[in-house]
Amino acid sequence: MFQAAAKTLWVASTSSRGALTALRHYCKKTTSKLRVSEAVSGTEVGRKIKVQGWVRSVRPQKANLFLHVNDGSSLQSLQIVASSELSNPSLTFGSAIEVTGTLKKSPNQKQPVELEAEQIHVVGECNPVDFPFKIKERHSLEYLRQYPHLRCRTNAFSSLLRVRSEATTAIHSYFKENAFVQIHTPVITSNDCEGAGELFQVELTSTPQLSPQPSGPENNEDENFFSVPAFLTVSGQLHLEVMSGAFSKVYSFGPTFRAENSQSRRHLAEFYMVEAEVAFTQSLEDLTRVMEDMFRSATEHVLAHCAEDVDLFHKHVTPGHREIVDSMLKKKFPVITYSEAIDILNRCSEKFAFPTHWGCDLQTEHEKYLVKHCGNIPVFVTDYPYNLKPFYARDNQDHPEHTAAAVDLLVPGVGELCGGSLREERLDLLRARLEEVGLEETYSWYLDLRRFGSVPHGGFGLGFERYLQCILGVENIKDVIPFPRFSHSCLL
Ligand code: 4AD
Ligand code: MG
Repeated sequence: MFQAAAKTLWVASTSSRGALTALRHYCKKTTSKLRVSEAVSGTEVGRKIKVQGWVRSVRPQKANLFLHVNDGSSLQSLQIVASSELSNPSLTFGSAIEVTGTLKKSPNQKQPVELEAEQIHVVGECNPVDFPFKIKERHSLEYLRQYPHLRCRTNAFSSLLRVRSEATTAIHSYFKENAFVQIHTPVITSNDCEGAGELFQVELTSTPQLSPQPSGPENNEDENFFSVPAFLTVSGQLHLEVMSGAFSKVYSFGPTFRAENSQSRRHLAEFYMVEAEVAFTQSLEDLTRVMEDMFRSATEHVLAHCAEDVDLFHKHVTPGHREIVDSMLKKKFPVITYSEAIDILNRCSEKFAFPTHWGCDLQTEHEKYLVKHCGNIPVFVTDYPYNLKPFYARDNQDHPEHTAAAVDLLVPGVGELCGGSLREERLDLLRARLEEVGLEETYSWYLDLRRFGSVPHGGFGLGFERYLQCILGVENIKDVIPFPRFSHSCLL
């Protein structure tokens, strides 16, 4: 409407200066709806505006009432100044309001502008006694976690959600700028890519039971909707490998499911994974380059576009973390082999709960130690024992020890952030490995990929929530996803 008015005025005016004056006059008289981020930017002083949002603070004084309103568009809230005549008992912390007034330059240095209210309408009341968040109190992330339906109304969690949204955009931009094609890999699948038995099976139920039922005779008709067992995906890798038989660079970014019975601070039953697959690879370096570039590019983007939100975490939630992030971005990520990692762990004086020896899987405690040992910056560990890796990993036949061309990226505070490998593209070797585990039939289509125009290729997956933990310094993965799902918990 604003644009249409401007256009009409422009056409109607005989000179451009006249049009501008008329436009300013018009703007001052009409009420435009602004987002809080637009209002606090300070560029619209003098305009009559309407804002809608939720009350973040209320401060009644003798003559005036001061409020702060936030609509999620930025960390900053807009200060509202109203004559106490506009005061109303329903104007409480947490209530939803709509305010009309004039934007004025603020006399207080704290904010560039304030809204001088002419009208305040309470759209939705909020009883501050029952509301679980208290005015002016900085609640811990752990406390907020108890209220998955309300925590987005706090500064900390709304900052997290903006960072999450911006990081998503940054990752898509990285892939777009680097000519990757995005593939929507399926959520329901008939394969178990990782072969780790952490699958959720998809079954048909004729009578949804939304609340826990007492145990007793069950209505358990064996309705096999897909005619084959179907599962929620643990990784889109195999589908990306299909696509990398026609596109040299592909990626996906979507929900992933693992029935891990873990209460750990870095595991969820539902998480988001970024996966990339690159055809015509020469070596693991082709993959580590993409992982490192993506990490840097996404992190720099987030730091630049979400500065206030990131600062809130680095100042109040995880003090001291900014220095770690800055140092991660300064240096090139070192690369060590698994054998070197085991040597480092065997030689160190640290007492681990899980002892180390060549052939053992690296535990979180080992990963964190290796990161510290390398200067508390991300580190790549390559060439893991062949037997630790799934059937698709490429056999390093030229190595003295039996290893696979696999790589993990370990990062400060979290441990494993990415897992990837070159894929076994040689038909005979892949067939032999599948035969060993009795999966030759199941994966005949996967063997076909090696029969028809097979090329050396590889890829990796990055756990998006772990990435957010890493850049914000958040200890518990449940605090970086809107609705965490983990064993014994599926709230909402
Ligand atoms: O190392 P993972 O299991 O690798 C794969 O799934 C490969 N198929 C990916 C590929 O090559 N395309 O998982 C990749 C990453 C891990 O490094 C970790 O960051 C994250 O996914 N991840 C989890 N994040 C949260 N909760 C869980 N339960 C996770 N399991 C893995
Ligand atoms: Mg892994």
